[in-house]
Amino acid sequence: MSELAREMMAKIEGGIRLESAHEMTDEYRETLLHLLTMQADSELAGGYGYVPWITKAPTVEEKHVVAQIVKDELRHAAVMYGLLADLGFDVERHVRRHDEIFTMRIGPDADIGTARITSDKRVNIFYYPIETWADFVFFNFCMDRGAGHQLEDVRGCSYGPWVRAIDGIFKEEKFHIRHGESWVKKLASDPTTHAEAQTTFNKWYVRTLNIFGRPGSPKNQLYRRRSASRSPSGSRNGPSSPKKPTSQAEGRRRGARRQEPGAAQGVDIIPLIGSSPRAGLHAATRCEVMSSLGSPWDPREPRCDYPTL
Ligand SMILES: [Fe+2]
Ligand SMILES: [Fe+2]
Repeated sequence: MSELAREMMAKIEGGIRLESAHEMTDEYRETLLHLLTMQADSELAGGYGYVPWITKAPTVEEKHVVAQIVKDELRHAAVMYGLLADLGFDVERHVRRHDEIFTMRIGPDADIGTARITSDKRVNIFYYPIETWADFVFFNFCMDRGAGHQLEDVRGCSYGPWVRAIDGIFKEEKFHIRHGESWVKKLASDPTTHAEAQTTFNKWYVRTLNIFGRPGSPKNQLYRRRSASRSPSGSRNGPSSPKKPTSQAEGRRRGARRQEPGAAQGVDIIPLIGSSPRAGLHAATRCEVMSSLGSPWDPREPRCDYPTL
């Protein structure tokens, strides 16, 4: 292990977050760049997908809300690309190269599972088109909630600038989720829109679960191999414990408690997007969606069917 790697690991193990590229190994930097780019590209592609709904939203008030959400997503993109630029990433070139691609959407009936199909790094749900107002509402309701789980993961990561950037982003994402919730109630309680709401919910719910990726992918394994706070069985965010740690120190404490015999010993480098066991986050997301809908469903009881509004 190099001197730099030793110093980096000592800081992380001591609860000191990294603040600059000089403090990280090439492997850490590459992994971090990948994860930051995934979020940055998703924020930008997501904002682009909402733009038509400024003109198509049902009321003037809602047009304003959609415009606000577009502005939020573009701000999130600017913040994330700023973090990438600080690490020496050529943001201008990347965005120039992908700016047209970011607007590309697949057909509404396509099913791409967990695949990414363009050279940008957006999370794959952003390939699906938002064709109806119900799509817009359920995208807020499901996807922003799913993204919230991933952002919460970032709060426990070892790169300080990202942790600080997430706070403001998270607040705005919560507003998007609340917007989705209030409209879900309206659409679900109106007999004329109830059936459409159910169909639309089923569609976006599955797509949202797919954003958590495949647990056995090479990248997922890398993140988990590097993480002392995750058990190899994926129990960290399991159904009986859907809440994730809210601070790095807490994350380490919990991780220490939950580490199983034989778990990979390493540094809690980037417990981040893509690193969480998919099944656990599925359960956490499902639990939250259910409680938003006022369901009495107990998340500890596994269920495979999709909920009915
Ligand atoms: Fe966002
Ligand atoms: Fe959002």
